[in-house]
Amino acid sequence: MDKLVVEGGKRLKGNVVISGAKNSALPILAATLLTEKESVIENVPQLRDITTMIRILRNLGAKVTQQDDVVTVKPGRQIKHVAPYRYVSVMRASVCLLGPLLGRLKQAEVSMPGGCVIGLRPIDLHLKGFESFGAKIKIEHGNVQAEAKKLKGADIYLGGPFGSSVLATANVMMCATLAEGVTRIESAACEPEIVDLANFLNAMGAKVKGAGSHLIEIEGVQKLHGAHHRVIPDRIEAGTYMVASAITHGDIYLEDCIPEHNNALIDKLSEAGVSFKRLGERKLRVTGKKALRSVDVTTLAYPAFPTDLQAQMMALMTVTPGINVITEKIYPDRFMHISELNRMGSRIFLEGSTAVVTGVKRLSGAPVMASDLRASAALVLAGLVAEGCTEIHRVYHLDRGYERIEEKLISLGAKIWREKE
Ligand code: EPZ
Repeated sequence: MDKLVVEGGKRLKGNVVISGAKNSALPILAATLLTEKESVIENVPQLRDITTMIRILRNLGAKVTQQDDVVTVKPGRQIKHVAPYRYVSVMRASVCLLGPLLGRLKQAEVSMPGGCVIGLRPIDLHLKGFESFGAKIKIEHGNVQAEAKKLKGADIYLGGPFGSSVLATANVMMCATLAEGVTRIESAACEPEIVDLANFLNAMGAKVKGAGSHLIEIEGVQKLHGAHHRVIPDRIEAGTYMVASAITHGDIYLEDCIPEHNNALIDKLSEAGVSFKRLGERKLRVTGKKALRSVDVTTLAYPAFPTDLQAQMMALMTVTPGINVITEKIYPDRFMHISELNRMGSRIFLEGSTAVVTGVKRLSGAPVMASDLRASAALVLAGLVAEGCTEIHRVYHLDRGYERIEEKLISLGAKIWREKE
């Protein structure tokens, strides 16, 4: 296993190009299975999770080639309906294969995703959606088995105890494209990744309306064809670099980002004293100031402050003078990064799903343990400003979601390198 070593104290300056969105590319790659024809997906980030998804598609029988950021998928007529446990078990997002397999083959078997460090990660809303189409669901030997003689469109309410579900919305939307009749998804997720997926489905010949709102309507069609699609930029990666500029009092130009996908973060960072300058359709200048002001954040479903930027924002709060409060409403246990940040001298205490962060003058570099994708990013951000070196162990978590992170940070002036454990 590798570890990342970060030497703190460098102000980040320069340009960083944002990669394609992992959480858009994954369901879109799964959606290619809805047809036997070839699809070409551009701006696909080269990440571990993408490699896992490509392995699964190949194992199901699809022909898949990857050339830089372009992935070509030709599912063909014969694809299997059972996704292999050995790959599915390492990536929870594999659950989004259920929708396309059930839609195209009227049967699907995917191992039940386990929980992970950020929470229980149930899939009851996904299964409720499939049952609404008339599918029979069985959970046997740790696998979800879904099958249907026929899939009939239905009105489906997908709201859960923590609001809408992104991948449940994606799964139901994909399955609905080949169901008979009209499906209405109420309390659908509004994330930009859902809009991106809907655009790809419509390019394949589907009839999806309302993506981006809480009510999505899909009119089923007989067949879909292949399509060419460019994945949207990764708003979580973009947000992570915005925080990197804020925490190092840097001056960073983000290229190929969509600022309006980060309105909640930009609003909060502006309140803290960070300045933003729009330099064109997809270019944004982010300038951190010396004296930041404390802020309070609550994570909720899009367009509110995203849970996937909670850990990164907390890293900034650790060195923001005053009392900062961050409440996590999507995954109430998503706080594994607190103990690691406190090892670096931060002052954070947790009351339920609310963390109170008292800003400190300096963090000190220390060996720390990454626990999940976004917590690892928070540790890198803290390491950028800590005194001395920070060693981040189990950095494979980071490689799941951040393309060429050292290269991008080094080009911004950071002192960061990878070492064998
Ligand atoms: C997506 O996961 C993202 N992953 C997550 O990003 C992100 O944190 C999450 O959305 C919330 O924004 C991908 O897109 C691959 P949810 P997803 O279903 O769809 C509860 C990252 O770091 N829920 O929107 O699985 C659930 O427990 C990852 O890139 C149910 O109760 O999340 C949570 O509290 C981490 N029943 C809330 O809804 C269900 O059937 C939102 O979960 C499904 C979810």
